[in-house]
Amino acid sequence: MATDTVSSERMAGGAEAIEAGARDPGGHRPVLLAEAVAALAPRPGGRYLDGTFGGGGHTRAILDASDPDGTVLALDADPDAIARARALAEEPGIGARLVPAHANFARLAEVAVETGLAPLDGVLLDLGLSSFQLDQAERGFAFRFAGPLDMRFDPSRGRPAADLVNELPARELADLLFRYGEEPRARRIAAAIAREREQALIETTVRLAEVVARAVGGRRGSDIHPATRTFQALRIATNEELHALERALEGAVSVLAPSGRLVVIAFHSLEDRIVKRFMQRESAACVCPLEAPVCTCGHTPRLARVIGRAVRATPAEIAANPRSRSAVLRVAERLPHVPPAVATVGDPASALSGVGRATRPGRTKP
Ligand SMILES: C[S@@+](CC[C@H](N)C(=O)[O-])C[C@H]1O[C@@H](n2cnc3c(N)ncnc32)[C@H](O)[C@@H]1O
Repeated sequence: MATDTVSSERMAGGAEAIEAGARDPGGHRPVLLAEAVAALAPRPGGRYLDGTFGGGGHTRAILDASDPDGTVLALDADPDAIARARALAEEPGIGARLVPAHANFARLAEVAVETGLAPLDGVLLDLGLSSFQLDQAERGFAFRFAGPLDMRFDPSRGRPAADLVNELPARELADLLFRYGEEPRARRIAAAIAREREQALIETTVRLAEVVARAVGGRRGSDIHPATRTFQALRIATNEELHALERALEGAVSVLAPSGRLVVIAFHSLEDRIVKRFMQRESAACVCPLEAPVCTCGHTPRLARVIGRAVRATPAEIAANPRSRSAVLRVAERLPHVPPAVATVGDPASALSGVGRATRPGRTKP
């Protein structure tokens, strides 16, 4: 199983690849834990939001690092994860320092305001799914366990993955597999699904995995399951993951206090691209098209990129936890509001960001 995990991750950029073997026996092993906590820089009295509580590994570490009175607002779309957060809040010494909230992180700004915890000193998003979810056959995330094709982080909302598989026109299904799974054989797989569902609806993980495997076979010399990308695509679409991420990033910036940190761990290129572009844009002094001779955008940077380069797991962490192989951590810091006219070379905002295009020769703010 562990071998499957590692090779699936290589193949699909991390994707659906958290197969058995990539976790602690008791649950989910947090990825880039020390790096994420260092990036957030928690301090006593600080207020933090963990948008993806999962098994609570990151939350615990933030609570420890902000001892004795730092607070964590812990969100998760999955009610099971929030039950774990409530249990953690019962542990001695935690109590009101942990505020669990069953919510999609797309709504993190509203929740932070409603709970009275905004402005925040840090926001963490550790994207994707947890080992708890992958291990529960009935959640339908893993093609190796027989279960219903569900894949919802929050089973009380939205529609299960089976609805997409059985109801989308073949052409739209192919587009979905290509866009969210970066699946090069999307058309062939979609056509096979469309044929199969005419005989009987595809309602289980195992049947879908078989249909995909029959349609495209295994790659010679590869031990990757051919359904890896299909499962990733369906999970992303079912949970509208990329849209939720875009909203969460925007919301995070709006509720961060000056110098508050935004830390995001992504597991595949689609997520990471969104995070990277968001941080680039929000830390740029100018977002005019490159060919524009003079800046007219009036854009005000709201973030400084604290660590310009992505942080990745060390070889030791990858050996201990194969899931970390594809993890990419990015961090940015909230700037105080700086009027666009002064966001030029020499002021603290652009000195921190280091990417202000308005500082290029010939491009000046109006
Ligand atoms: C990788 S796990 C987090 C693991 C956690 N950091 C830990 O240390 O145990 C990701 C978690 O994010 C949750 N999640 C994914 N998308 C979400 C969303 N849009 N809103 C809220 N929670 C989400 C999943 O339900 C899952 O529990």
